[in-house]
Amino acid sequence: MSSANNNTTDTACVQRGMAVDRELEQSFPASDAPSWALGRTSLPVMMSPDPVRYRGVSASILDAVGDTPLLEIDGIFAKLEFMNPSGSIKARIALYMVERAEQRGLLQPGDTIVEATSGNTGNALAMVAAVKGYRMLVVMPEGLSSERVAISRAYGAEVLFCGNFHVNQALQRAHELGAQPGYFCPSQFESEGNIEENRLILGPEILAQLPAGRLPDALVLGVGTGGTLIGVGQAFRAVNPAVRLFAMEPSESQTILCGEIAGHAIEGISDGFVPGIFQRNAGLIDEVTSVSSQQAINEMKRLAREHGLLCGPSSGAHLLAAKQVHLRYPELKTIVTIFCDEGEKYLSEHFGNRSTTADVAFL
Ligand SMILES: Cc1ncc(COP(=O)(O)O)c(C=O)c1O
Repeated sequence: MSSANNNTTDTACVQRGMAVDRELEQSFPASDAPSWALGRTSLPVMMSPDPVRYRGVSASILDAVGDTPLLEIDGIFAKLEFMNPSGSIKARIALYMVERAEQRGLLQPGDTIVEATSGNTGNALAMVAAVKGYRMLVVMPEGLSSERVAISRAYGAEVLFCGNFHVNQALQRAHELGAQPGYFCPSQFESEGNIEENRLILGPEILAQLPAGRLPDALVLGVGTGGTLIGVGQAFRAVNPAVRLFAMEPSESQTILCGEIAGHAIEGISDGFVPGIFQRNAGLIDEVTSVSSQQAINEMKRLAREHGLLCGPSSGAHLLAAKQVHLRYPELKTIVTIFCDEGEKYLSEHFGNRSTTADVAFL
């Protein structure tokens, strides 16, 4: 794998993005990817000077998946993935894994999609299933935000509760159901399609959005399935082999670092086990770092109040972890993270109480 550094640092953003695409195609032959995905790797580059984001009439809401803004905030580059339809980054892998299964004949009209999830992938798959006419069965533990359950149901999905907070039991049940005729389980915690979407689409999108002449020095991300960290990490390594990959987990439940499985409030990550995707690719990770749930929630609330960014606790955790990395390693100048899901999913848990100090101070 060679670096694109020499070819790209002095060139304009558009040329850099195209170089990145070529580099990625060489590093990872994309024959496995759905055909629409290949065209999309260069879409943000081609469309950036165009004031209209969506040309013509869209076929469905699925055309609005991806192509989200990249924001520089507190010296960190944050990709605003909570702006995806269904409210999270998971819209990307949901669409990708379903269309990959359709292309491989694993999913037929009338089938039921079944998936284990802490909520966001359930919301995203329920949206994709609604558009494409599949039945959707979301298998998730109790004890997560009630909005996530309501959103899946709003898209017409059925929700089967299995276990409490951690996803282990739901995972087993979803796999059992997925083996039945007429069912398809995308298996997000294991799926190469999950990694592939992040490597072929999300990663190149971020590379094309960074300021001209800048390549990522570090990627800091929590681990749910690990697909985002590994896939985007691979895309970054293809253009900067020295990029550092930091996995973040809640300090109350450091499963990767210490084998600890405990309650925490950073929903969407640290689901109670080290997922297969992460295990298979652990050699790519440079360091595991942690943030406490309370710190994450405080930072999430600050993002809403001071920056108008209504996102979930993992976004607060990601920004804090990225800033810690920046402090510890000042030589890492271009640090990327992701704001994964929207704060609307946590209104009742974290934003509902009006009698806070901030409200009183405002009067
Ligand atoms: C809410 C949320 N969704 C998704 C992700 C990405 O997870 P995955 O590791 O499954 O790609 C994260 C990662 O931090 C997250 O916080």
